[in-house]
Amino acid sequence: MPAGVVLDVADTETVFDAAHRTGYLWPTVCGGLGTCRTCVLKVSEGADNCKPAGELEREGLATLGPPAGDGRTRLACQLRVTGPVVVVKRGVRRVKELRGL
Ligand code: FES
Repeated sequence: MPAGVVLDVADTETVFDAAHRTGYLWPTVCGGLGTCRTCVLKVSEGADNCKPAGELEREGLATLGPPAGDGRTRLACQLRVTGPVVVVKRGVRRVKELRGL
């Protein structure tokens, strides 16, 4: 949300990787290495289906301040899911749209 993009995220990949695999650009500076925090998202539904944040993600979220410690703020490039999740992230675009195709 808010673009209404639906991603099928495989067990072995992150939300960020699933977006790229299916033709979407997810905002990033570091390319998914977990260092820029540009990919940050908000989980609006299905938080129980999100795997716990690892050390790299927890460190990155800590730099974003108190709202990031709410358990619903996550880094897309680190987030793995086990079931349906609804997230809010502005700027997710289909590659074709960006190229005017
Ligand atoms: S893409 Fe840079 S931290 Fe996730």
